[in-house]
Amino acid sequence: MSTIPYDNIRPVQWEDGKLKLLDQRLLPAQTRWLLLHEVEQVREAIYTMVVRGAPAIGCSAAYGMALAAKNAPEDPDGFMAAVAAAAETLKSARPTAVNLAWAVDRLVRVIAARAAGSVAAAREAALEEAHALTDEDVRYCIQIGEASLPYIPESARILTHCNAGALATGGYGTALGVVRAAAGAGRLSMVYADETRPRQQGARLTAWELQQDGLPVTLIADTVAGSLMASGEIDLVVVGSDRIAANGDVANKIGTYQVAILAAYHQIPFYVAAPLSTVDFSTPDGSLIPIEERDPEEVAVIDGTRITPEGVACRNPAFDVTPHDLVKAIFTDRGVAEPPYGASLARLCDP
Ligand code: MRU
Repeated sequence: MSTIPYDNIRPVQWEDGKLKLLDQRLLPAQTRWLLLHEVEQVREAIYTMVVRGAPAIGCSAAYGMALAAKNAPEDPDGFMAAVAAAAETLKSARPTAVNLAWAVDRLVRVIAARAAGSVAAAREAALEEAHALTDEDVRYCIQIGEASLPYIPESARILTHCNAGALATGGYGTALGVVRAAAGAGRLSMVYADETRPRQQGARLTAWELQQDGLPVTLIADTVAGSLMASGEIDLVVVGSDRIAANGDVANKIGTYQVAILAAYHQIPFYVAAPLSTVDFSTPDGSLIPIEERDPEEVAVIDGTRITPEGVACRNPAFDVTPHDLVKAIFTDRGVAEPPYGASLARLCDP
């Protein structure tokens, strides 16, 4: 599929006028694709985590907007009203990943600019923009991997949390883009994947994706990370992000914060890999990032079996915020940001 090593997975595709998504809820047991033709289906797919990971959510939402334009009425007023409603529908699917609103707003701008000419032109432009955004995302992930290489030692043993891989992006991955680049440079010894309770993205997705691409992976329970660090078996940590505040605070999958604290205690570098579209300059610090609370049943029930006493209270925040002073560097598509992040992230955005 690609001439780049270890790059074989594309979870978000367009086929016969429909959005085609790899159903990540079923992996690794089944590889099933869903074909979606309406905005409401795309919202549902994002909410239920058929597709997940901030950049992949953004790509799917962009195609969702292309579907909205395709299905909207012909008259110009009705057309724009339907597009605006679709944008709100999609944005409501999940609150933390800023790539969702970013992608939807980008599509609305393109559609509005072209709708003044003709509705047909706006529909065509929407689809072209969704393709461009998705291709760009893969390219940016490859650039993130390249940018990280000066920070990766020989025979690197890398710990990651959740899945910030090809499955979580247009392809190639952010944190796992760093892993792929390290492998391509002959510097990867092992990836340790946290299982990532409660949705098990590490156990189900990171393990599957790295195995598919023939990369070395060892799965660990979330509780094992600290002892592997203490015994000197981890050289660095790299994770993805759903939203990075202007000061460098990083929202990512729940559990990332405690991994960052463990890494700081053991003096192991903790890196974040993300495209610049994940940086939200309108949010000054991490305390202002909205954190999604999901159904407590995700904690209480595993594979259909309740593991808790009936009626016990459970909390299920899906993300946490790692303060910027625990982050050694942020790898982006435009280069590497180092502390102080307020200045370095802003500088990377300069044209
Ligand atoms: O709830 P999820 O699976 O969507 O959470 C995904 C993560 O937290 C990823 O680390 C993040 O979106 C970055 S993906 C490149």
